[in-house]
Amino acid sequence: MVGSIKIENVNKLFSNKQKEQVTALKDINLDIPSNSFISLIGPSGCGKSTLLRLIAGLIEPSSGKLELDGKQIVKPGYERGFMFQEHNLFPWLTIYDNVAFGLKARGIFNENKSSVDEYLELVGLKGFEKYYPHQLSGGMCQRASLARALVGHPSVLLLDEPLGALDAFTRMNIQDEILRIKAEKNMTMIMVTHDVDEAIYLSDKIVVMTPRPGRITSVVDVNLPRPRDRSDYDFLKYHGEILKLLKFGGFKQQPEYNI
Ligand SMILES: Nc1ncnc2c1ncn2[C@@H]1O[C@H](COP(=O)(O)OP(=O)(O)O)[C@@H](O)[C@H]1O
Ligand SMILES: [Mg+2]
Repeated sequence: MVGSIKIENVNKLFSNKQKEQVTALKDINLDIPSNSFISLIGPSGCGKSTLLRLIAGLIEPSSGKLELDGKQIVKPGYERGFMFQEHNLFPWLTIYDNVAFGLKARGIFNENKSSVDEYLELVGLKGFEKYYPHQLSGGMCQRASLARALVGHPSVLLLDEPLGALDAFTRMNIQDEILRIKAEKNMTMIMVTHDVDEAIYLSDKIVVMTPRPGRITSVVDVNLPRPRDRSDYDFLKYHGEILKLLKFGGFKQQPEYNI
């Protein structure tokens, strides 16, 4: 099985505009098993994107190490697909050519032609191949961006708030599509999200982070059967627990908030 990640004692410092050192991530340790779905959740600035970019190999840790299937991550690789909040599709290319772009750049388009069609169908964009991004809705552009991230058959998919800009209903539909694709294709998925429900609905493990410095404060195993029901009592219990861990819930147990 491929797609397992090990993060050991990782620290990441940046210098800010005033040339001061900012600790974006401190003492990060995390094991991500093959074929699991992990969410990173926490307030803005707690280092979620930095952690994802480290796994992508877009940046290097200041200390510590990250491994993918036992090999140190030192640069980006095709076995890791990336999807962002903005779809980043090329406006001058059709949806088909956007999805095929990476394969063409790698010179492996001809032998993978059928996989462009397969993924366009899998994300529900069959029939829209000849459209340009500006002719599609935000949700459809994100579907295209998902197909583009998947078409090279990555063993790890990294998702940085990919559904954050979409309306709640579109988001719930695409969440189901992501789960369906994961079940069909077996890959590790790591998603940054601000949305507690999204994290519970999708994840095997939820990694809760806090800022200044960015740390992991808890890792919650979500032991709910799939498919999950957002209105189920146990689901709502997880919701409450995660809100408490994020310090946005549990006030009844803290009498100092009584007014
Ligand atoms: N390239 C960079 N240069 C300087 N500081 C950065 C850079 N990237 C991130 N940071 C800082 O690191 C911290 C974590 O950022 P980030 O990973 O983007 O957080 P999140 O995605 O959780 O909102 C923030 O304080 C941010 O300002
Ligand atoms: Mg971010």
